[in-house]
Amino acid sequence: MMDIFETRESEVRSYCRSWPAVFERAQGSTVYTEDGAEYLDFFSGAGALNYGHNNPALLEPLLEYLRSGAIVHSLDMKTPAKRKFLQTFEDVILKPRNLDYKVMFPGPTGTNTVEAALKLARKITGRQHILSFTNAFHGMTLGSLSVTGNSMKRMGAGIPLTNSSKIPYDDYFDGETADFLWLERVLEDSGSGVDKPAGIIVETVQGEGGLNAARAAWLRGLSELCKKHDILLIVDDVQAGCGRTGTFFSFEGAGITPDIVCLSKSISGFGLPMALTLFRPELDAWTPGEHNGTFRGHNPAFVTAAAALETYWADGKFQQQVSARIVQLHEGLERIAASVEGAAVRGRGLLAGVVFPDPDTAGKIAAAAFDRGLLVETSGPESEVVKLMPALTISADELDRGLDILIEATNAVAGTRELAGAL
Ligand SMILES: Cc1ncc(COP(=O)(O)O)c(C=O)c1O
Repeated sequence: MMDIFETRESEVRSYCRSWPAVFERAQGSTVYTEDGAEYLDFFSGAGALNYGHNNPALLEPLLEYLRSGAIVHSLDMKTPAKRKFLQTFEDVILKPRNLDYKVMFPGPTGTNTVEAALKLARKITGRQHILSFTNAFHGMTLGSLSVTGNSMKRMGAGIPLTNSSKIPYDDYFDGETADFLWLERVLEDSGSGVDKPAGIIVETVQGEGGLNAARAAWLRGLSELCKKHDILLIVDDVQAGCGRTGTFFSFEGAGITPDIVCLSKSISGFGLPMALTLFRPELDAWTPGEHNGTFRGHNPAFVTAAAALETYWADGKFQQQVSARIVQLHEGLERIAASVEGAAVRGRGLLAGVVFPDPDTAGKIAAAAFDRGLLVETSGPESEVVKLMPALTISADELDRGLDILIEATNAVAGTRELAGAL
């Protein structure tokens, strides 16, 4: 039966096609449809719900704030909620990590922070060209799209996407070609015809592009190359940041300090739109209002963001708990991969999944998982990867339950080998 979503909402809708249910309520890692069906959520709002749905530690301060008559919308005016967020971000995130970044509110979405980062890199260096990586995903507005890989999404622009080039991501050539060989050569060769870029934008784990995870040594190599050639390194931590890979920023383990960092998705913690662009203070060359936007002062998001940082990042306990879930998730993924010929684990931390040799397999498994009460999406240029993004706050039992469902779904669709015992 056709419903209003099908008759009235644009054909552009997508997630609702894979999950044809009407989702009504949610708590933690469980969502409920209006028919009363229950789903375990291994999707987490594509990374916007790292602390689960309706987390009481964030919901209570939000409700209190809204009931108090406090300011909701304020463009970039000063408010106590913004002060508290900035102070908490400085105390809980920046200072303990020895990071000195200016904080810009570029607009509420991931693509807004990427646009701001690209503009700033160009303004600072006076160069136009940006390098980005094969299979990168940075958002849907024109600047972000110009540094995105996916050809279907790029076609949607309807105009040439210029002033950017793609370079191979870690392991693009299966280890056969030395990393950065081409880039080193062309940057040093004044006859190469490759314009020196303003910046290089990178995801440490490619969330949409197939869960390719860059090695720490590769990221260090990239950072060194950028420094050597005076190119700004932009880490797009929109999806991999906010604890997703086990540390607050996904680049912490690699020991690099990007010049510019893009954050969004789970920075508000509650699923409210919010984004930050962080950059070294020396790069703060903006003139007032040069980049603006109506929704840069979403105070309810500042409230939940500050509460999330205070609740989960003020000490190391949460990170330890996340580490345990990461081990558990990867053990489950290894078993799933071992059950299908040619399958392999992809990703890092709680941004991980399994790639299957037949590109149709992942979509079928996601559909079979949905039938069994689990929300998982696919990733990669051919949707060939089953992508797991449970909430960082998920319990060990829930994670086991979801992995069991996924094993069952995999077996039903593609299992070719015996699964050794139950999880
Ligand atoms: C790495 C990365 N950058 C940017 C974006 C764009 O964010 P938004 O959809 O909020 O514009 C995404 C979205 O998935 C992303 O994964």
